Amino acid sequence: MIALSRLISRFAELFGGDPDFVVHAPGRVNLIGEHTDYNDGFVLPVALQFGCTLLGRRREDRVVRAYSETFTEMAEFDAARPARDAELRWIDYLQAVAHILNQVGSASQGMDILVAGDVPIGAGLSSSAALEVGACLAFEASSGISLTPIDRAMAAQRAEREFVGVQCGIMDQFVSCNAQAGHALLLDTRTLGFQHVPIRLSGVSIVIGDTRKSRGLVDSEYNFRRSQCEEAVRLIAEQHQGVTALRDVTRDMLDYLGIQLDPVSARRARHVVTENLRVQQAAEALSSGDARTLGRLMTESHASLRDDYQVSCRELDVMVETALSVEGVYGSRMTGAGFGGCTVSLVDTQAVDDFQQTVGSIYASATGLAPAFYTCEASAGAQRLL
Ligand code: GLA
Repeated sequence: MIALSRLISRFAELFGGDPDFVVHAPGRVNLIGEHTDYNDGFVLPVALQFGCTLLGRRREDRVVRAYSETFTEMAEFDAARPARDAELRWIDYLQAVAHILNQVGSASQGMDILVAGDVPIGAGLSSSAALEVGACLAFEASSGISLTPIDRAMAAQRAEREFVGVQCGIMDQFVSCNAQAGHALLLDTRTLGFQHVPIRLSGVSIVIGDTRKSRGLVDSEYNFRRSQCEEAVRLIAEQHQGVTALRDVTRDMLDYLGIQLDPVSARRARHVVTENLRVQQAAEALSSGDARTLGRLMTESHASLRDDYQVSCRELDVMVETALSVEGVYGSRMTGAGFGGCTVSLVDTQAVDDFQQTVGSIYASATGLAPAFYTCEASAGAQRLL
């Protein structure tokens, strides 16, 4: 987290005086359970030590005056009438949250606000979910309302879907709101029932590798995958009553579906069905400290995303394959929506330096891109700090 004392001085320089409140919301890395959340399935993300911190002070009018440390820019809008231009900017995430809060009857109040974040942007580590959840907490603080963490996550997800225009699932906002330090979060996205799963990996680290490949196709391909899944469900439901989402498809049904469905729908369905099974096994392996099993499941997840769901790309594949060739690596996979962004690997803590050097140099010479690596520190969910 960015040093608070520096941000408090920055707030005084920008707006004069002290903030009334400080809130923080983390980004996330998903250990396993990819492209399952919009299929009513299971996910196992972890909140990161990186997040978005917002320092604010209530205003008596409806004006939101916000400064972004990242974009070194001041912007403002009317909290009663949020409206975005065609080109998406950082301020639109705050407007998106105001828009949803106004709709759910928790009218958002004006405020002066400083926004600072350290989640790498565009890397698939949910910098936008962190900003949305942080903005929600900030509006709650300035308006004197208080949402439950689950309602906050749902408001932030609606902000992304209805105002920003990305048809995301609930995973990113949910873990940002509900995570516990030292734990991953096993979420059933159908019921929103969840469990904090202790990370008992002694001597083993979770290492994130940023390919630095920008995720150009991600939004259109993401929405396309969603519609392919819906189409697969429609076809399956003609034969199997009670199937309303790929979550309801069992492994036994898969062989038969291979004959019934077109090959693409069958592959998409197979990914989601097998991934849901892997998530539940992974949660058990994580809490019992079984790095070998967890690593194997992660590597299988990557193969399934690459071959059946087809959301990987050359850079992600090179990084995963290189990671798997390093001594002390239990498993590796792409994480997040795909088409670029990050990998997540399970690595003996003693081998992490070697891992970063070896993967870094082989990857750089294969792709011409300079990767970045971070060791994940499982952090707490969003909260008001002051
Ligand atoms: C993005 C979305 C999530 C989820 C992942 C893929 O991060 O925001 O809801 O669908 O992609 O698992």
